[in-house]
Order: sequence, then structure tokens, then C-alpha cells
Amino acid sequence: MSVPKIYTLSNGVQMPSVGLGTYRVRDQATLDTCILEALRSGYRLIDTATVYKNEAAIGNSLKRIFEQNLIPGLTRQDIFLTSKLAPKDQGYDACYQAVTDSLRNLQVDYIDLYLIHWPGTAKLKLPDPQNAINRMESWRALEDLYHVKKLRAIGVSNYTLTHLAQLIERPHNSHAPHHPHDSTTTATGAAPLARTMVIPHVHQFEMHPRLFQKPLVDYCQHHRIQVQAYSSLGESRLVSLTPPLPPAMDSNYNTAPLPGALDIMPGLIRKYFAHVMRTSTTAQLSPEEETEEYPKRAAQILLRWGLQHGAVDMAALDAYSVDSERTRYCWDSTEVC
Ligand SMILES: NC(=O)c1ccc[n+]([C@@H]2O[C@H](COP(=O)([O-])OP(=O)(O)OC[C@H]3O[C@@H](n4cnc5c(N)ncnc54)[C@H](OP(=O)(O)O)[C@@H]3O)[C@@H](O)[C@H]2O)c1
Repeated sequence: MSVPKIYTLSNGVQMPSVGLGTYRVRDQATLDTCILEALRSGYRLIDTATVYKNEAAIGNSLKRIFEQNLIPGLTRQDIFLTSKLAPKDQGYDACYQAVTDSLRNLQVDYIDLYLIHWPGTAKLKLPDPQNAINRMESWRALEDLYHVKKLRAIGVSNYTLTHLAQLIERPHNSHAPHHPHDSTTTATGAAPLARTMVIPHVHQFEMHPRLFQKPLVDYCQHHRIQVQAYSSLGESRLVSLTPPLPPAMDSNYNTAPLPGALDIMPGLIRKYFAHVMRTSTTAQLSPEEETEEYPKRAAQILLRWGLQHGAVDMAALDAYSVDSERTRYCWDSTEVC
């Protein structure tokens, strides 16, 4: 089965199906190398966020590549740039300013996709109802920036089904009052034009065979929201023979002991090869294969699962995300009001 290289979003914008994540990479020289080699290998989507604190360095890397023509013929239009709103910048004005800052840092006139990184607001308690108010205001700012073409597509990240339904099923008049930046406010002070509500074009969330979240995927598909998976390799813990300790990020981060890779992944690989190569389901990887080939094969299978989840021959892997054994490797927004 072939997998798409490009997804067409509900507004017609084309987004590469695979991208380069840049979380934790800040050093300019490292980014220069990573981005150049990724682009040389065919990557066209670069995913950053204001909390990654590397937008300016990414902007520098791209500027150098274009100016020095390091990849002949490559222009800004060939790159799909994603950035995200930090939880501290939730709310209309702060969000509007944050996007303006991202544009300046990345040294671009437009950003291809801007996501609300997290449904909550920094320093608010998870059950605080102000979280919902703030993220709706942020969304209004993103809609306005989308309408003036500073953002080619807008979306959300880490939203649960409840957060997403609140946004999509909001009453139309929830957009009033209009803000000074609002592109639909008339210059004469006459009654403003009706605003155009935008349904998120993309939802980026953690997704792999250990955390399928099918109802969320189905809801997105129903509303023509493109699902974009992150941590497709379980932050490497699904492909590593010696899973690293979970990083201590903040209180939202999953710091519970993780089951690691070995409990399911060798079985997964055997099943996969048995299916594809029609060999015995009891075929074993040799010790050498376990060490050298396993991470590579597991990574390939996991990326392909992400690209064709729901397809017939990947259905066996869907079953690994049974509710009792769901494993989240990154942060959990379930309790954000
Ligand atoms: N929206 C959000 O809240 C959110 C959250 C998390 C991530 N993201 C985005 O998604 C990107 C990826 O996230 P992630 O790091 O969690 O992704 P991941 O793809 O699950 O894990 C990446 C790690 O897997 C390992 N790896 C990659 N290819 C491999 C291969 N062929 N064989 C063996 N190991 C391999 C590497 O580990 P080593 O470095 O040890 O080699 C790499 O650091 C981030 O950079 C960010 O852009 C977004």
C-alpha cells in the first residue's frame, strides 16, 4: 500500500506527511547541519514552537540555505514551517503578539501552520475555567491572522475530544466583541462584517500503536481536520532496546515508570514480517538483528503505522492501544478544563 507524501488540508493548503521535529535542538551549528541534511534528504516540513526557543536559529539556518543556494533552486515556498503558541501566551493580545514574534524570529512573511500548543494557560490550575476562555481568545487571534494571510493554516495540539468539540461546536456569536486587530472591523466604524469562523485545519497530538485514540482520530476525520502525529516512536522508547528514562519536564509530563519497548515491539516486528513475507509467526530475530536491525525496522514500521493507521494490514497494531494498557510518553492534557 502506498502512503501519501502530501496531505491536502481542508482549505486546499498542501502539507508534507512527514516532517523534521526540532524539540530540544537549539544550538545554531547543530540546527544548521540537521536542517540542511534533512532538506537534502527530501524533508520539507520543519516543526518548531515558541517554547523550543529555536525559532530564530531555524530562521538563520533557512536564510543561509536560501542565500547561499546550498540546495539549488530551493525557495521559501518549498518549505512548510510549523510553529506553536506557548501556554504562557494564551489570550487574544498575547497570541497575536506571539505570532508576530514568531514571524520576526523565523524571518518570514508568513508561517504555513500555527498551532495552539496546549489547551491550558501557564500558571492557571488545570481545572480553572479561564483556560477555556483564554484558548478561545487565542483561537480568535489565529483566525484573524489567518484571514490576513500571515498564517496559511491554523490548528491545535494536545486537545482532547472535549477541547476540540468546544471549539468546533461553539455558537456563532461567541466571536463578539470584535478586537481592534480584527480584519473584519470596518474602517468607518460601521457595523462589522460577520466573521468567518475557521475549523482547525490540523490537530497535532501524541499517536503511536500504544496510544491510538481512535475516537479523536475519527472526530478529526469527520470534521476534515488533518491528524498530525508526534512521538511516533514513543520518544525513541518504542524503538530502543534500552529505553531512556523519561525526561523531567514539568508536572504535566508523564514521569510514571514506562513499560519500555521490549514487551511488545519484537512481537510486533515478528507479526509484521510474518504478514508481509508470509513466514512463520514464530520467526525469531537473531541476537545481531536484535541489536542492529531492530531499532531501524521498528522505526520504519512505526512511521508507516502513523501514515496508514486504520488500513487493513496495520489493524493488528491498532489492538496494542487497548484502554488498560494505553501508554502516553509525552504530556497529558486530559485534566485541563
Ligand atoms: N505538540 C507537542 O506537544 C509535541 C510534543 C512532542 C513532540 N512534538 C514534535 O514532534 C517531534 C518529534 O517528537 P519526539 O522526539 O517525541 O519523536 P519520536 O519520533 O517519537 O522520537 C524521536 C527519537 O527517536 C529516535 N529515533 C529516530 N529515528 C530512529 C531510528 N531510525 N532508529 C532508532 N531510533 C530512532 C531518536 O532518538 P535519539 O535522539 O536517541 O537517537 C529521536 O530522538 C518533536 O521534535 C516536536 O517537533 C510535539
